[in-house]
Formats: sequence, C-alpha cells, structure tokens
Amino acid sequence: MISKRTSEMTSFIVMDVLERANEMEREGVDIIHLEVGEPDFDTPSCVKEAACRALEDGHTHYTHSLGMYELREAICEYYLTRYGASIDPDQVIVTSGSSPAIFLVFSALLETDDQVIISDPHYACYPNFIKFVQGQPVTVPVYEEDGFQYRPESIKEKITSKTRAIFINSPSNPTGNLLSESRMTAIADLAGEPDSPFIVSDEIYQGLVYEGKDHSILEFTDRAFVLNGFSKLYAMTGLRLGYVIAPRPFIRPMQKLQQNFFISANAMVQKAGIAALKEAGDDVARMKNTYNKRRRFMIDRLKQIGFGITIEPTGAFYVFANARHLSEDSYKLAFEILENAHVGVAPGIDFGSNGEGYLRFSYANSLENIAEGMDRLQKYLEGRA
Ligand SMILES: Cc1ncc(COP(=O)(O)O)c(C=O)c1O
Repeated sequence: MISKRTSEMTSFIVMDVLERANEMEREGVDIIHLEVGEPDFDTPSCVKEAACRALEDGHTHYTHSLGMYELREAICEYYLTRYGASIDPDQVIVTSGSSPAIFLVFSALLETDDQVIISDPHYACYPNFIKFVQGQPVTVPVYEEDGFQYRPESIKEKITSKTRAIFINSPSNPTGNLLSESRMTAIADLAGEPDSPFIVSDEIYQGLVYEGKDHSILEFTDRAFVLNGFSKLYAMTGLRLGYVIAPRPFIRPMQKLQQNFFISANAMVQKAGIAALKEAGDDVARMKNTYNKRRRFMIDRLKQIGFGITIEPTGAFYVFANARHLSEDSYKLAFEILENAHVGVAPGIDFGSNGEGYLRFSYANSLENIAEGMDRLQKYLEGRA
C-alpha cells in the first residue's frame, strides 16, 4: 500500500499542462510555452566554467554537510551587501535547491497539527511540504486590489496557539508582486515575542525586481528562516543549489536532517554557486533587463486582450491575470487555450482556491515567442467571444 501521506499529495497542475503540451508537440503542434516558471536563459558561462573546473579539480566528493565554507561566506557577504543583514556562515545550510531547504525547515519546526500561515494564492508546493511533515497549512487570502499582498491584520486574526510560522514569498510566485516595506515590517512584528510564530521567507525571486527595491525579512527580524536558491536569478534550475539561513538553535537539528537525508549538496555545483555570487553580476543585469522588457510588453498586450491586471507585477517573471470574464474554471480555461490557441498557461487554481479565475503567464520566454503567444491568444479569444 502507498502511504496516506504520499497518496494525499496533489500533483503540480502546471506540469499536467506542460506534459499535455509536450504530447501535442510530439504530434507536430507548435506550442508557445508561457506556463513554465523556469528561466529560458542559458546558465552564465562563468558558472558553467566554474562547474567544469571543479570537476577537473576533483570536487566530486561529499562536502561538509552545511556546505562549503567559502560558499556560505559568499552567501553572508551577499546578504550583507544587498540587504545590510549580518549573518554568519554557521547560520547557513547549503542544499540541493531551495526545495530541500523548505523540507528541512518544516521538518525542524513542526509538530503534528502545528500550523503554518500561507497566502492564497501561493506557490503550489508549499501545502504539500507542510502536510507531509504532519503540519497544517492555514491560508490567508490575498487580493488583486492589494497587489496580492498580505494584509498583516488578516494574518493576525489567523494566529492561534498552534501557529509555528508565517510564510512569506516576495517577490511572489504566482503573482509577481512584492510585499511593501511597511507590510513586511508589520508582519515581522508578529514574530516579535519569543513565543510568537517565526517568519519563513522564501526569497528565491530576490534580485528579479524591476521597480522599487526588494527586501529580505532579515532586515526586519532575526526570528526568521530565509529560503533561497540559485535556480531563478542565475538560471541554474538544473544544477540544483539552494540554502537556508536559520536562527542558530535550529542549525544543528537541521544539520542532522541534512546528514541523514541528503549528506551534502553537490560539490562541483557549490563551486559553481560561488562563481555565481562573485562573478555573475553582469549576466544577472543583462537577464534582468531583458525580463523587464518582456514584462512591460506582456502586461500591455494582456491588458489589450482584456485580462484584468489591477496592480502591475514588478518582480519574478510572472503576470497573474484576472480571467474571470472568460471563465470561472481556470483549469478548463488553461487546457482550452492550450488545445485551441496552442499557448501553454498555468491555471490560477494550481496556486490555491483564491487563485481560481486567474491565469499565470510566465515571461521566461523570448519577446518574439511572447508576442506570438499573445497574438494567438487574442485571435482565439476574439473567435470564442
Ligand atoms: C516560490 C518558489 N519557491 C521554491 C521553488 C523551488 O525552487 P528550487 O528547488 O529550484 O530552488 C520555486 C520553483 O519554482 C518557487 O517558485
């Protein structure tokens, strides 16, 4: 028998869209992919060279379970320069992507039935991580008219004696929006007392910000866990590298989890991570500049086509557009668009019940493909009306 925990796990619907799109491609249909949340850029050459060099130099063995010291130092340097947050290498655990880091944090933090507050919509996998370690996700709806930012007072209403963490993700997947400094401050205040919940902050889209300034939760409180990784900013999804920054008392317990379950992150990829942090600044600036042009173009075209975008997204590489005028069933709508317009989009329901009626468009694709995707979408929707 398959365990209850595993069989209760939901699939990632966007992957269902992608798999159907791939099937259609095998039948010869040309698809424009706006569903996947993965940079289309090649990994910066300084990163690839560092990885190859690491292999040549014999970095093919286990490393320290917390990660290479030089990488942890570079991560601290990054947080100090970018956010003025002073952390020590002994507060960092390097993982094979930020996904294992999420697993480490919730495993160390939650007893059975402990609660974690998450926004709705949210990154699709969060509830599954929480439930897998016997915790309970508690959702707080966020709304288009607030730019999908939490209302701190709504979080406060949901805090109970079982709340162990408040989860934030800014810039956010799926909405592409940022939490303002004032709202972040107010949320950090909810973690103010020793028996208050911790803040867990997924900062994986940090750096991909096109207007204003992004913030780390560490600027506002040290009762926080930071999750971050190299997948998005450095276009390193397949290399699998991430990390968690945690309050000191949690490091040794999480280190034991890492030793038992994962041993260490890949050695040569850690070397590549050091190069990313130290040498890839120009590559990141170039990618960011290109994302921004695509963002502007996509927002304008989606609005022209009739999608609702009340507050324009300024981060990550997503536009979460209101499609209620087309359908209340985003799952059906996403597949209808795929089958008829040959454009892959992610249904809002994948990201929580409050995401129903929305579609997520990713601009991690070339301007040319985005333009073609928008044209196809417009033509199909005009014909459908
Ligand atoms: C918000 C968010 N967190 C975490 C992840 C996982 O990233 P990785 O495991 O590649 O670091 C993703 C991937 O799409 C994401 O969008």
